[in-house]
Amino acid sequence: MKTSVPEAPRRASIEVYMEDNLGFLRKTPTSCVDLIYIDPPFNTGRRQLRSRFHTENGRKIAEDSYGYDDSYEDFTGFLEPRMEEAFRVLKPHGSLFFHIDFREVHYCKIMLDRIFGRDSFINEIIWAYDYGARSKKRWSPKHDNILWYAKDPGNYTFNYDLMDRIPYMAPGLAGPEKAARGKTPTDVWWHTVVSPGGREKTGYATQKPRGVVDRIVKIHSNPGDTLLDFFAGSGTLGESASSLRRNSILVDCNPGAIAVMKRRFAGMDVEWHGCDGVEPAPFRGGRKCPGA
Ligand SMILES: C[S@@+](CC[C@H](N)C(=O)[O-])C[C@H]1O[C@@H](n2cnc3c(N)ncnc32)[C@H](O)[C@@H]1O
Repeated sequence: MKTSVPEAPRRASIEVYMEDNLGFLRKTPTSCVDLIYIDPPFNTGRRQLRSRFHTENGRKIAEDSYGYDDSYEDFTGFLEPRMEEAFRVLKPHGSLFFHIDFREVHYCKIMLDRIFGRDSFINEIIWAYDYGARSKKRWSPKHDNILWYAKDPGNYTFNYDLMDRIPYMAPGLAGPEKAARGKTPTDVWWHTVVSPGGREKTGYATQKPRGVVDRIVKIHSNPGDTLLDFFAGSGTLGESASSLRRNSILVDCNPGAIAVMKRRFAGMDVEWHGCDGVEPAPFRGGRKCPGA
């Protein structure tokens, strides 16, 4: 297991491709990527949209929503050839982080076990949050599942020493020194969702929080590494990678995703491929993007 971290390069590159990810992956050379984080559609059976409104001259105006279709007759049939390619393009020490939820996680686990081998399954991370309406008919589902596969279960990047520390639940039992230092996180990660009115918000449906993605990037890759997200959406992996000095390759077939990334990465040095004619999305979060 690697624990030493090389010197950080001064700049990180971001490449964005607008195309179907299967064609993209088939063109990608073998063993060229250190870390893959993907957050595919969850097969919720509905179109993912986030409606937003703003007020102009006292009138409520609906804004464009940047969403995508999320309904598949054969979900694992859609994913399987993509995951076979993902395995191929990973470097021998590389890892896959596969973000999904309760609806499809069990089927995806079986599919990924077949492709990576059961020994390569290292963790199921539960991202637990506490936001939104609660059901009166069942336990409210408030978590996502992130499956971690290492291409080689005997040799993968895990920067244990760089882990953030979290507070003890019962600091009195830990003693003052330990309580002050905090403890390392487990496979259950409590982290809030992207706040609807917060600085991180891009307006893209299903945007994932930087806190969750940053932890994966920091612990499972090193500065200068190449990271891939071929279901990129609003580009959360790219923003995280860039701020942590990793290179990233982002792929999405939805012009709405490209529009949001063009806004999010405004002023940053990005190579855009096949993205001509897509205008940056209008500013909609609580935060000005760098360079905007
Ligand atoms: C759950 S979203 C990703 C959200 C992202 N993690 C973020 O933080 O914004 C899934 C994305 O996959 C994209 N997508 C779905 N099918 C695709 C395909 N065949 N090729 C490329 N992108 C695809 C959708 O357009 C959508 O943006």
